[in-house]
Amino acid sequence: MERRVQTMLLKFVLASFVLLVSIRDGSAGITSSFIRSEWPAVDIPLDHEAFAVPKGYNAPQQVHITQGDYDGKAVIISWVTPDEPGPNHVQYGTSESKFQTSLEGTVTNYTFYEYQSGYIHHCVIEGLEYQTKYYYRIGSGDSSREFGSKHLPKLNRKLPTNWEIGELGQTFNSLSTLGHYIQKGAETVLFVGDLCYADRYEYNDVGLRWDTWGRFVERSTAYHPWIWAAGNHEIDYMPYMGEVVPFKNFLYRYTTPYLASNSSNPLWYAVRRASAHIIVLSSYSPFVKYTPQYMWLQEELKRVDREKTPWLIVLMHVPLYNSNGAHYMEGESMRSVFESWFIKYKVDVIFAGHVHAYERSYRFSNIDYNITNGNRYPLPDKSAPVYITVGDGGNQEGLASKFLDPQPEYSAFREASYGHSTLEIKNRTHAIYHWNRNDDGKKVPTDSFVLHNQYWGSNRRRRKLKHFLLTVMDEIADM
Ligand SMILES: [Fe+2]
Repeated sequence: MERRVQTMLLKFVLASFVLLVSIRDGSAGITSSFIRSEWPAVDIPLDHEAFAVPKGYNAPQQVHITQGDYDGKAVIISWVTPDEPGPNHVQYGTSESKFQTSLEGTVTNYTFYEYQSGYIHHCVIEGLEYQTKYYYRIGSGDSSREFGSKHLPKLNRKLPTNWEIGELGQTFNSLSTLGHYIQKGAETVLFVGDLCYADRYEYNDVGLRWDTWGRFVERSTAYHPWIWAAGNHEIDYMPYMGEVVPFKNFLYRYTTPYLASNSSNPLWYAVRRASAHIIVLSSYSPFVKYTPQYMWLQEELKRVDREKTPWLIVLMHVPLYNSNGAHYMEGESMRSVFESWFIKYKVDVIFAGHVHAYERSYRFSNIDYNITNGNRYPLPDKSAPVYITVGDGGNQEGLASKFLDPQPEYSAFREASYGHSTLEIKNRTHAIYHWNRNDDGKKVPTDSFVLHNQYWGSNRRRRKLKHFLLTVMDEIADM
């Protein structure tokens, strides 16, 4: 009998240990001492081949595609013609150089100070088939251009899905990062804001740098969809030159399928793509209680169906957890409004940019804090998402190398280098995550972990643990 009691006690201690381990995530974080020797943080000159204008009169340029609906059976193809508005149609089909269907888009242009934009075209192509490669042609005659877009992933498909995540700029560091996006051949880029840093320029050069960036990224954006989130460098609020409409350049050029997710604004929206429900938030639009973004997110989170899209990913520009001196605490206001929802709805991972360095968190939360109760420190929380800051694509402002010391408990890994992340979703429970440092043009996998799905993974683990604990309790009760 005594031996049986000892065995039971041992099991109970073991169960308690398992429980404790399950709510505490990992060890002290790492601050990498590696600081990459970087190319000067200056933009690529205007006459560089990276910005080459395509040959031919009025040839389409700055071609980019994004998802065009909620479920991924539509794309929006956008491009700019410099000389005149037409032609304005996309020809497309499922085999190369054989374009069975033709569709008209919309065309518009705008001024920014005295800069006059080219003619900006957006064409929504609907009713596409999943897992089918499409080819498309825009322009006419000698100036026409042909592209092949990647396969459209099926919702909840069993095959792995590859995502690239980052921000960019238009420096030689950006060129290196963009090269890695292309090398990897991921299906989709999740872009966390700060496209071209054109707001570092003045007067007509602002518009010109939006154009150069559009041509710069075309080698990737014309072939697979980029899911856009907006950053502070898209605001372009410049009263000294009479430009006071926020996001003007961005919104004319980069469209999003916001209406499909019942959003009232292109800056926040959601798409379901492959096995993920992706929610894009705007750090620079109102988000407190009763604002449109708040009301929208409240409803959108209820629409997430983890049977259909097992993974839930959130993109925003300003990180909610950031231990870099740069932009420290800038995400605190949004954290206080939305963090409890991210936990309640089991968000798997939140990607942000803004800070020109890399950082990954453990699963921590600070939802107990209510100003007066004194619980002001983030605590380990298995229900919390992983927060990843990947604002290190390359930019004109250089790296943010001053991290807070000591490293906060929630911070798992941080390094001030340029790079980008990849997420390979393997199935409904596991994904492989990497952050890749750009080292003199080479891609060096530097931080990696297995991301467990918060909905499917944790439910299974909890069921297992609950079963184990109940068995032990029953055995003790029977004694
Ligand atoms: Fe930013």
